[in-house]
Amino acid sequence: MTELRVFGARFANPVLFAAGTAGFGEPVVATISPAEVGGLVTKSVTLEPRRGNPAPRVTEFRGGMLNSLGLANPGLEVVRKEKLPWMARRLGEMIVFLSVAGRTPDEYVEVVSALEAEGGFLGFELNLSCPNDVHRRGRPFCLDPPAMRDVLDRVRPLTDRPLLAKLAPNDPAVAATAALAVRHGADGITAVNTIPGYLPARGARRALGAGSGGTSGPAILPVGLAAVREIAAAVDVPVVGVGGIVSDSGARAYLDAGASLVQVGTGSFADPRCAARLARRLARRSEAVP
Ligand SMILES: Cc1cc2nc3c(=O)[nH]c(=O)nc-3n(C[C@H](O)[C@H](O)[C@H](O)COP(=O)(O)O)c2cc1C
Repeated sequence: MTELRVFGARFANPVLFAAGTAGFGEPVVATISPAEVGGLVTKSVTLEPRRGNPAPRVTEFRGGMLNSLGLANPGLEVVRKEKLPWMARRLGEMIVFLSVAGRTPDEYVEVVSALEAEGGFLGFELNLSCPNDVHRRGRPFCLDPPAMRDVLDRVRPLTDRPLLAKLAPNDPAVAATAALAVRHGADGITAVNTIPGYLPARGARRALGAGSGGTSGPAILPVGLAAVREIAAAVDVPVVGVGGIVSDSGARAYLDAGASLVQVGTGSFADPRCAARLARRLARRSEAVP
C-alpha cells in the first residue's frame, strides 16, 4: 500500500478515533493494538478539570446517540503530568492530536501554551464547535466568526504543530467558515462535531440531565458528508471527515467526498474494535484496486 502522509506525518492508515470517544487512549490499549488504527484525537482538554453535566449524560435512539457530557475531562495539569507521558509510552506509532476547548480565547491560549513543549503528540485539534459548551455570547466559537478568528489569531503564533479547526454541522456557511479558519492559520479542518438534539423524557426520567445534547452516529452521516464535500471544494488544506462512520463504506464515502483522514466516534461505543475493523477493510479494498 502506498504511504499515507498527512500534516507532515506518516499514518498507518486513514482511520482515527474521534475526540471524546476514546479518552486518552485507555480503551484503545484495552481492546486493540494501537498499530491497527492510524491515530487518536484525545478528549477535549480544558484549563481546569471539568466534572461535566448531570446524569444521564448519554442516551440512545435508533439512529445513534445523544450526549451531553459537558466536556468532562481531568484538566490541563493532569493531562500534562499523567496522560501525555502515558500516551507516549503506550500508544507507540499511533498519531495523536490533542483536542483543546475553552470558554474564552484566553483559555485556549493557556492550554496550548502549556502543552506545546510536551512530547507525545503531533498537533492540536481546536474544538470550536461543542454544542454542550458555548462561549460568552452563547454560541460555539465556529458559529461566531469574529470569536473564532480571535481564537485562531491568538493560538497560531504559539505553535508550529499542525492546527486543526473542528467545525459544526449546523453551520449554514460551513465552507466559508472553513476558509476563514484557514486564512487565520488552520492547517486542516475537522468536520463535523455533533449536531444539537433533544429527546423526550422516558416516564419520569429525562433523556439527558442537561435537557438537550449533541447527536452523533449513523443519523448524521449524510450531514457530515455534505459538510466535507463543501469544505474540500473551498479550501486547499486536508479535511478530516467525522460523523456517522460505522462501516468501511461510510469511511470510503468521506474519502471520496474529499477527506484525507476519517474519524470514528459513536461507532466505537457500539463496538470498540469498529475503527480497527474498518481500517483493515479499507486497506484490503485499496490493495484490490490496481
Ligand atoms: C460521548 C461523546 C463525547 C464527545 N466528546 C468530544 C470532545 O471532547 N471533543 C470534541 O471535539 N468532540 C467530541 N465528541 C464529538 C465526536 O468527536 C464526533 O465529532 C461526533 O460524535 C460525530 O462523530 P460520530 O457520529 O462518529 O460519533 C464527542 C462525541 C460523543 C458521542
